[in-house]
Amino acid sequence: MRKLINGTGIDLGVCYYPEHWNRDCWAEDLDRMLAAGLKTVRVAEFAWSLIEPMEGEYTYEFFDSFLDLAAEKGMQVIFCTPTATPPAWLTEKYPEVLNADITGTLYRHGSRRHYNYNSPVYREKTRNIVEVSAAHYGKHPAIVGWQLDNEFNCENDRFYSDSDSSAFRVFLQKRYGTLEDLNRAWGTVFWNQTYTDWSQVDVPRKTNTGAVNPHRVLDFYRFISDSVNSYARLQADIVRKYKKPEDFITTNGMFGNIDYQRMEKESLDVLMYDSYPNFGYALDGFSPEDFMKDRWSSRSLAEVRAVSPNFGIMEQQSGANGWNTSMEAPTPRPGQITLWTMQSIAHGADYISYFRWRTCTFGTEIYWHGILDYSGRENRRLQEIARISGMLGQMQELAGSGYEAKVGILKDYDNVWDAQQDRWHGRVEQISQNGLFSALQKTHTPFDYVYLKDEIQPEDLKRYDLLFYPHAGILTAERMAVLEQYVAAGGKLVMGCRTGYKDICGRCVTEYLPGMAAKLTGTDIPEYSLVAPDDGTIMVRWEEETFEAAGFNDLLAAAGENAEVVGTYASSYYAGEPALIRNRFGEGEAYYFGGAFAEDAARAFLKKLGAGEPYGDILELPEECELAVRTKGGTAGNGGKSYLFVLNYRSEAQSIRLKKPLKNLLTKEEEEGERSLEKYGVRVYEIN
Ligand code: GAL
Repeated sequence: MRKLINGTGIDLGVCYYPEHWNRDCWAEDLDRMLAAGLKTVRVAEFAWSLIEPMEGEYTYEFFDSFLDLAAEKGMQVIFCTPTATPPAWLTEKYPEVLNADITGTLYRHGSRRHYNYNSPVYREKTRNIVEVSAAHYGKHPAIVGWQLDNEFNCENDRFYSDSDSSAFRVFLQKRYGTLEDLNRAWGTVFWNQTYTDWSQVDVPRKTNTGAVNPHRVLDFYRFISDSVNSYARLQADIVRKYKKPEDFITTNGMFGNIDYQRMEKESLDVLMYDSYPNFGYALDGFSPEDFMKDRWSSRSLAEVRAVSPNFGIMEQQSGANGWNTSMEAPTPRPGQITLWTMQSIAHGADYISYFRWRTCTFGTEIYWHGILDYSGRENRRLQEIARISGMLGQMQELAGSGYEAKVGILKDYDNVWDAQQDRWHGRVEQISQNGLFSALQKTHTPFDYVYLKDEIQPEDLKRYDLLFYPHAGILTAERMAVLEQYVAAGGKLVMGCRTGYKDICGRCVTEYLPGMAAKLTGTDIPEYSLVAPDDGTIMVRWEEETFEAAGFNDLLAAAGENAEVVGTYASSYYAGEPALIRNRFGEGEAYYFGGAFAEDAARAFLKKLGAGEPYGDILELPEECELAVRTKGGTAGNGGKSYLFVLNYRSEAQSIRLKKPLKNLLTKEEEEGERSLEKYGVRVYEIN
């Protein structure tokens, strides 16, 4: 049994850097943490030199002392492998371990994450430091879990070292077998890119047009993910040999070009996330829409939940953001640390660890504040966290519950990565991901991201009444078979423009569009166009609803006896042409929409398909508040319990209305009718 994220408790912790402080601070720091309810610390993720100060020389005294003290105090520890920051002796002696930019120039020592995953030397050095650390500390009683590296692919998710080129070749040989097949897959006959020897095949380098063969780039992203995953696995396999059976293996963060579904399956017990909602308040305007600001983190939390339904937050914002070179954001206002902690818990987090205990007085992150400022003096942020710990004491019955959603947004890495390198695909994907998220949030409709991983079965989709698969440019027969079975069994599926026009290599198909989705959606697409600026806003009419068909328009025709046109374009040269097809398929129905799902379109689909405001008969909430729901033992009314989180992200109080008596989980009192939810306020209501 793991001691964290095991369904038996919801706990707090903190990131600590014993190497940043005099040893005589440690005992007092640990006492103060425990007094505030912080029961676990994460340590060592950048501390390679404290274990191997010179090549092949090991010293364990530093972390022995710290871990023994932690054990004595009753503090639990998450211990990290230190590979995110290779020591200077290593990169100086073996420059081949360094990552390079697209021109091949090496990234030098002096920051972090400057290594590449494929250097045989770095893999060897990694094997060694992980083996040495896990063998020495693995059975320490203070340790409850292990973090692999720190934020794989943070700062940089592209790799161009010589080792990467060699490994890319091996990856492609495995994928395609022969050069002929590679040439065909990448369409290299176009612009005379044909390869005649494997030695010519390289990671995508700088070209004079800036454009690189798109099929090669798509495979490059797949290759990066493969590299990270095999590197994580290398570490996990070693840690697993030495750790105590009950201790977990995790890593933190979510970054580009990583298939986390695979990582979770091969290397992790649970994924943890680093949640910094304050980016929404950054001076350089990180947030696309003022209204949403820190609420955008809920989208990332939904992504984490798609990997680990109950997850941890390894780094939860507790102070202002800032490096000396970038990112400036204010100190969290009173109440915001509580709000953001509850945002994480509402989405399925069972462990919250704040970043960091005390703000560092030197280095790049002197402005990335922790709970305490430089002096360590008592402050309101620590007091707020102590209050959160008290609140959690009242909310422990939440443990064992999971996020509940009836709407899903389908994803797969082929399309995520294709949309990343293909502007035409990427544009509509971005419009729809933003539009769907905003519409779901503002209509208080909990949703999940659901990855169509290889082993997915129609039964895995059954729990959703409605699924959006917005712009699956790339379709596969296996995924279509699962979707057809889901719809045939009564599900509702909505697909948007540009579906099915590519194969797995990212090449366009010659079948009539939407290719493999034609049968399920009963749709034919004789013509299509990008929406140009002088087209204005192209509107669609679907019975009483009118909304935009943003970005790109497929002009549709109903195909098959169960298909009917339910929406038409209202403007442009194709006014009156079909824009939306509904196809009855078995017990369910599939919709094909000719545009991207901007917010108004997404809202119209939620309304027409009966999926929006699913708790509208219980709670009336303003758009300013998020609703998130966790359930335990089934849903309320079906033998289970539901916990409704209402989160107010605004700096003004919001008025909410409880349409029936609901028990406040914190006060254990019943509430009903009109209530005021204070600024940054949170309520958790319980229903049976
Ligand atoms: C995270 C990282 C931490 C720290 C923090 C603030 O991305 O894991 O080590 O750098 O951001 O910048």
